[in-house]
Amino acid sequence: MGNIVLSVRDLARFYDVSRGFLKPKATVKALNGISFDLEEGKTLAIVGESGSGKSTLARQLTLIEHPSAGTVSIDGEAVDYDNHAQIKSLRRKVQMVFQNPYGSLNPRRKIGDQLSEPLIINTNLNAQERKQKVDEIMKIVGLRPEHYYRYPHMFSGGQRQRIAIARAMILNPKIVIADEPTSALDVSIQAQVLNLFMDLQEQLKIAYVFISHNLAVVEHVADDVLVMYLGKAVEISDKKKLYTKPLHPYTQALLSATPSIQPEKRYKKIKIKGELPSPINPPPGCSFHKRCPHAVERCSKEEPSLREVDGRQVACHLAEQFV
Ligand SMILES: Nc1ncnc2c1ncn2[C@@H]1O[C@H](COP(=O)(O)OP(=O)(O)OP(=O)(O)O)[C@@H](O)[C@H]1O
Ligand SMILES: [Mg+2]
Repeated sequence: MGNIVLSVRDLARFYDVSRGFLKPKATVKALNGISFDLEEGKTLAIVGESGSGKSTLARQLTLIEHPSAGTVSIDGEAVDYDNHAQIKSLRRKVQMVFQNPYGSLNPRRKIGDQLSEPLIINTNLNAQERKQKVDEIMKIVGLRPEHYYRYPHMFSGGQRQRIAIARAMILNPKIVIADEPTSALDVSIQAQVLNLFMDLQEQLKIAYVFISHNLAVVEHVADDVLVMYLGKAVEISDKKKLYTKPLHPYTQALLSATPSIQPEKRYKKIKIKGELPSPINPPPGCSFHKRCPHAVERCSKEEPSLREVDGRQVACHLAEQFV
């Protein structure tokens, strides 16, 4: 095992939401108890359908929000979400890249200035040293020196995402949380940006939490995969095991819906019945049982916890029968 840079235990985030005039508030259990470890220089992919809690997890990991329960340790240091001085220093170590790079760039400031800003706030480098550092990172992400003086609207979507990546990398973070970083890009550009992520990881030994609903993308970038369903992990596995033989019926269904390029890897089509249940009223027992083609009576009564089956973690009473 390498050095663990991110360790998450029983992490949860609930939101109180109004259900209308004079009605009692309801609680959305957007993230409902997740645990995992991430090693230096490795990629953990988070997959799951819309509303499963992926971005909520990202907001807790990037220290934007205060979790409702659970713990996060970054580079061996337990996060105290009330300690602002600690949060400020840890933010250097965990950076983020979002789906929409345009939304995270200031349209009125030159790219070079925006890339210098984290250096002004967080380092003692002088103006010349900052310029040098920005030139260096721009080169690494495939931007040209003259781009320093341009504004965000003068770039293509792919170039803007390179700028956002440069900004995330400029303080040498240990961890980068990327939330659907390529899903807004043209398919032709996606592969280039994914390759950039992978080159940077190799050069700089950064660990990624890579959020995506695209299992073909995940197969390309991940070391390990965490499958989320209704705010919980239903399967955590190394990539090879998961793609060769998914054990949780939800993972099986997700993979069967992914068009695969390799014919030997075609998964039998499994249709998931119905919709994702509401995180306000999760079903009793296994939260997937109403949609699961294999569900038995026990599944509607007893909630399965994650347990080790076939060298990975699965939350399914019937997991052994799929090995
Ligand atoms: N600030 C909030 N207030 C109330 N509910 C929220 C809030 N943020 C998220 N939720 C709810 O929590 C659940 C998980 O949302 P989240 O955005 O984390 O899902 P996601 O997996 O990122 O989905 P997508 O793939 O569409 O990005 C959803 O039911 C969402 O409506
Ligand atoms: Mg999201």
